[in-house]
Amino acid sequence: MSAAETALKERIKELTCLYEVSSIIGNTDADLLEDTLKAITLSLNKAFKNPQKTTVSITTENVSVFSNNRTIDSSFSIQSDIKTFNDHRGQLTAYLEVSDETHNTFLPEEQLLLNNIALKIGSLLEHIEIKKNETSLRRQMQHVGRLEILGEITAGIAHEINTPLANILGFAELIKSDLKANKQSLEDVDKIIQNAIFSREVVKKLMFFSCEMPQEMKQINCVPTIKNAIKLLDATFRKEQVKYKVNIHDDEIWLRADPIQLQQIIFNLLINAIYFSPKNGLVTIEAKTTKKEIILKISDEGKGFSTDDLSKIFQPFFTTKPIGEGSGLGLSVVHGIVASHKGSIVAKNNKNKGAIFTITLPKD
Ligand SMILES: Nc1ncnc2c1ncn2[C@@H]1O[C@H](COP(=O)(O)OP(=O)(O)O)[C@@H](O)[C@H]1O
Ligand SMILES: [Mg+2]
Repeated sequence: MSAAETALKERIKELTCLYEVSSIIGNTDADLLEDTLKAITLSLNKAFKNPQKTTVSITTENVSVFSNNRTIDSSFSIQSDIKTFNDHRGQLTAYLEVSDETHNTFLPEEQLLLNNIALKIGSLLEHIEIKKNETSLRRQMQHVGRLEILGEITAGIAHEINTPLANILGFAELIKSDLKANKQSLEDVDKIIQNAIFSREVVKKLMFFSCEMPQEMKQINCVPTIKNAIKLLDATFRKEQVKYKVNIHDDEIWLRADPIQLQQIIFNLLINAIYFSPKNGLVTIEAKTTKKEIILKISDEGKGFSTDDLSKIFQPFFTTKPIGEGSGLGLSVVHGIVASHKGSIVAKNNKNKGAIFTITLPKD
């Protein structure tokens, strides 16, 4: 083999190794770090000129892995430091068996490859450390954490309940069509159907809450979106004899958001506002824009919040409505959506009377 051919062959081995190590790192499970490091030593071993006579090892304070079981008695080795955040964390070493007199050297490229892989391992360890810190930070944020864990649990429950509910609804509809003559039974079946529909809505909210619905962020003019949501509740406002006023002076306010989720925010807040409004009470919907944010305010003239309730209203299942009327999920959903848009929501008692919700959403 010519020198050029040999060099090329070595280069290909090196590139293959870099590629392999990147994919190994990409698939790392932080709990199986030792397996990852072992896989890296194996991949790197193959890239050396004399793989059969080479052993690669990675040692950090917690683990020590080798590419093979060969005893290392040679004095011949090259190594590279593994660092995270500039601190020494371990070593990547390649040993060469010196029995063969002609091949007892490493190529300069091999040292470079070693350095390169050591860097990759370092950033992998950094990444894991950052993740770990994030996790513990998250645990500290108890409130947020609770919402999250609940989300996971409810996702499972919601799925389990959805199928039997669909069956209940289906069979009830069947019975209904057989019962045309029996007025009392018809009414009873209707109750079953109404209740099943109500439960299905709860399940929908649960699924929503646990982020089962994909989010679709896009650049939107939120003025028509907001106005549409209000319009859809027009009949409800009239039925409950509640008045409303829209204070939006811009024709266009652009921001990056999921339009359906934005409607969901308005919807949930307005439904609460209507519910807690006295007869002839006024609900005010306001949207303003600053350079970087949009500010949405929804206020009513109802009873407002007690200090005790105010700290709980965003918690899932917290409701002061009578059984069967409230799921206590509306504001949790709103809170979740606002958070996923990197915004904030604050609830307060209005100066005179009633509740006021202020939502701030970044424009991009
Ligand atoms: N506009 C409001 N005025 C007074 N209290 C409110 C208002 N909106 C929400 N709340 C309080 O927050 C609770 C939780 O609201 P929500 O999460 O939407 O659940 P639900 O509407 O099912 O009760 C309500 O039961 C109520 O106590
Ligand atoms: Mg509600």
